[in-house]
Amino acid sequence: MRSIIKIALITGFLSLYGGLPVMAQTDGTATNASAAQVQTPVAAGGGAQTCLKCHNTDAKVMPILQTPHAMQGDKHTPFAQEGCESCHGPSAAHVASRANSPNVLFKGPNKSPVAERNAQCLTCHQAGLRMNWQGSQHENNDIACNDCHTVHVAKDPVLVKISQPEKCFTCHAEQRSDSFKFSHHPIREGKVVCSDCHNPHGAPGPKLLKEFTVNEVCYTCHMEKRGPLLWEHEPVRESCITCHTPHGSTQARLLIERPPYLCQECHANGGHQAQPLAGQNLAGGISANPRLMARGCVNCNSQIHGSNSPNGAFLTR
Ligand code: HEC
Ligand code: HEC
Ligand code: HEC
Ligand code: HEC
Ligand code: HEC
Ligand code: HEC
Ligand code: HEC
Ligand code: HEC
Ligand code: HEC
Repeated sequence: MRSIIKIALITGFLSLYGGLPVMAQTDGTATNASAAQVQTPVAAGGGAQTCLKCHNTDAKVMPILQTPHAMQGDKHTPFAQEGCESCHGPSAAHVASRANSPNVLFKGPNKSPVAERNAQCLTCHQAGLRMNWQGSQHENNDIACNDCHTVHVAKDPVLVKISQPEKCFTCHAEQRSDSFKFSHHPIREGKVVCSDCHNPHGAPGPKLLKEFTVNEVCYTCHMEKRGPLLWEHEPVRESCITCHTPHGSTQARLLIERPPYLCQECHANGGHQAQPLAGQNLAGGISANPRLMARGCVNCNSQIHGSNSPNGAFLTR
């Protein structure tokens, strides 16, 4: 019923204005796989039943019945609205003859353009997490909702912790190799997922991060680093990724470099840093200086993220 009204409205609108190009695009006619048809595609109606008459033995289709999309009790779902046509578009021509493809195809060599596929999903999913989708890195690079999401499965793998990263790794090879490094966030182990730190649908801050700054992201799990602290270490307040890398490192503790070299990027060769026991400069060559063993400067300056001790000015306690 609703679909018929909608079609009537669209056709009425088109005849009134003689067919605006923008309308022609949103209803799919301009880029339809069966491009021969020029008039507005017509809905078959009748909900999912119409399509299931033939597709009810189709193993690639049926698992959708076990998903939230098939909940007819919820009036927002496709199955409570136009059924399969809520996503595949008005497809009376396909029902009449399989020689015609459905209006919107998500897979295969004749799949519809990205913008057209995404528009189907966004009719229902524009709000919430996708508030910043338009103009986001993924949207700008022509990534489709169904590059990440699979809807004809009982449980969409990208929504499952252990399988989500594999989906992202298909395009993000660098993060994949990071995840195999000696020190890494437990992503492959299924304890941390990409979407703990990123919103793949778009974000107001940089790098699709869920918070405005890197530090706010880190504090969501490493709360003790937030402070406030009596003695702050300036670079820590500035950004955790001054010293750490988020995905994986060949250095312990996700560090970008090993102390003392890490520390010496900012702390000049003056003071005690330049006066090691053996008399050599810390920056040069092999040294017998015990300060350089294992954790380097952090052996003594152990409160590297800041100290709450009255005597902690040198981050030693
Ligand atoms: C009269 C039987 C019949 C009806 C009714 C029917 N289909 Fe199909 N459909 C087919 C057949 C046959 C194929 C080809 C199957 C194949 O190649 O595996 C097909 C293929 C498809 C494809 C894949 C097309 C492609 O080119 O990859 C989609 C999507 C599809 N149908 C959706 C729908 C939708 C949505 C409806 C309801 C509006 C529907 N079908 C109703 C018989 C039907
Ligand atoms: C007619 C409206 C409608 C359309 C069109 C639609 N959805 Fe949904 N979708 C819903 C509703 C309602 C739910 C269940 C409530 C919720 O999670 O928001 C849902 C749930 C989901 C979920 C969560 C599933 C889960 O297991 O928790 C994902 C992911 C999703 N949709 C993706 C998509 C994608 C991708 C498309 C396009 C191919 C799409 N949706 C098209 C209405 C729609
Ligand atoms: C780059 C991969 C990616 C793309 C592209 C993507 N998603 Fe998602 N989507 C995810 C991930 C990961 C989650 C789980 C997010 C979480 O748990 O915080 C998710 C969750 C969802 C959910 C369920 C959570 C909720 O919001 O209720 C819906 C619905 C959804 N996406 C719809 C869409 C739509 C619509 C599009 C296209 C406009 C889209 N997604 C594009 C990766 C993606
Ligand atoms: C929520 C949106 C949505 C609904 C509702 C929906 N589909 Fe799909 N359909 C998709 C997407 C996205 C794909 C791409 C494969 C996937 O994500 O599973 C697809 C793929 C297909 C395919 C091609 C299968 C393949 O793997 O090549 C067929 C056939 C199909 N759908 C038929 C149907 C039928 C029949 C219904 C109704 C019972 C239906 N679809 C309901 C979004 C939807
Ligand atoms: C189909 C390919 C594809 C998939 C799948 C994909 N991405 Fe992307 N992603 C891209 C492209 C292309 C860009 C933009 C170019 C770039 O910056 O690498 C991008 C950009 C990003 C960025 C922003 C980079 C920046 O410099 O601002 C992040 C973060 C990101 N993706 C995370 C994810 C996560 C998390 C997932 C899985 C939930 C995912 N991506 C899945 C292709 C993909
Ligand atoms: C612990 C939080 C966290 C997790 C988990 C995480 N990221 Fe990131 N990611 C970040 C931060 C922080 C940045 C920004 C780094 C920067 O600005 O140098 C980033 C940057 C990126 C970038 C842009 C890289 C660049 O050089 O600009 C991509 C792509 C990306 N992440 C993808 C992913 C993928 C894919 C996953 C899951 C496998 C993932 N991230 C998991 C925190 C995280
Ligand atoms: C979703 C929660 C979460 C977020 C957000 C998060 N972390 Fe972690 N982080 C973890 C977990 C879990 C571990 C592993 C702890 C363990 O093994 O005991 C970890 C470990 C670490 C380690 C030690 C790694 C090692 O090899 O011992 C560092 C350093 C770290 N995180 C830095 C960061 C930084 C920087 C950020 C922000 C970009 C961040 N974390 C954001 C959960 C998180
Ligand atoms: C000035 C460099 C630097 C900055 C900036 C920095 N860290 Fe660290 N972090 C280190 C060093 C060095 C270690 C190793 C300490 C050790 O070996 O005892 C470390 C260890 C860690 C660890 C693992 C051990 C522990 O203390 O739990 C976590 C988690 C961590 N950092 C999180 C963060 C977070 C979150 C931020 C931002 C708020 C941050 N770091 C900023 C240098 C830094
Ligand atoms: C990105 C630059 C940067 C890095 C890297 C860095 N620091 Fe600092 N550190 C600072 C700044 C800025 C101050 C504040 C200096 C001041 O107040 O004079 C500071 C202060 C300190 C202090 C307090 C005493 C003092 O000199 O004021 C100690 C101790 C210290 N850092 C140790 C370390 C150690 C150990 C490392 C390596 C794990 C390290 N820092 C890495 C920038 C850095």
